[in-house]
Amino acid sequence: MLDSVRPHEQPTAFDRMLAPVHRWIWSDTDRRIQKLLRFGETETDGGRDILRAAEVTSDPLLRRLYLEHALDEFRHGVLFRRRAAALLKVSHSHLDSGFHGDWLAPGGHGLDDLQVDGESDSDMLAFLHLSEKSAASRFTVYRDVMQHDALTRAIFEEILRDETFHMGYTLTQLARVEPQRHNRRLWRARLSRLWKAYLRLASGLAGIMGSFLLTIQYFFLLAPFAWLAKRAARRECSGWTPVSPGRSDSLDRQY
Ligand SMILES: [Fe+2]
Ligand SMILES: [Fe+2]
Repeated sequence: MLDSVRPHEQPTAFDRMLAPVHRWIWSDTDRRIQKLLRFGETETDGGRDILRAAEVTSDPLLRRLYLEHALDEFRHGVLFRRRAAALLKVSHSHLDSGFHGDWLAPGGHGLDDLQVDGESDSDMLAFLHLSEKSAASRFTVYRDVMQHDALTRAIFEEILRDETFHMGYTLTQLARVEPQRHNRRLWRARLSRLWKAYLRLASGLAGIMGSFLLTIQYFFLLAPFAWLAKRAARRECSGWTPVSPGRSDSLDRQY
């Protein structure tokens, strides 16, 4: 049986759990602009990679589907960027680099991890299916928390329809090119995504821990060191000081 074919994708429990965080992130106009710009970039990059996948596949049907898919992703990128530009015009935003939760939900799509060259059609389809599925799940949450911004909500609604279609066609094609082992391919792609998600989470946490430890060091270690250095400097005699007779012999070695 095919894995998880559903006409309308539901968000995963993890994405539903993070809905309050997403609501808070998207509630601020500056953060919304930053997120939209980053999403626009991810969608366009993903479109470029899928275009490359269309070039390297030897399957004519996949090539046509990948081309349509790539055009959709380019269009998503334009929609996100246009919306960000429209918000920028009215908000007088100063784009800062505050918390955007990117290590919780990277670029909304997950296509940024895509490696095209050297991948078989089945591995590519399994990866694309899971990426589109995760995008559909996240975009459902983003659409639902976007009550305060009808235009951005409409963009997520429109893109969500495409992502659901991408999710469906990639699974259908995976079952066509790998009828016996498509579930195994999906599990392998799932484990690879899990490992990358772990690395992303670990590097996000490492960043937070690093900032915390450096702040502690700054306030608790720097002050005593500065005090000790000043005390040592006060004890130093100024100017030339006499050297004991034993230490003033002629130099007969380098050190
Ligand atoms: Fe997309
Ligand atoms: Fe997509």
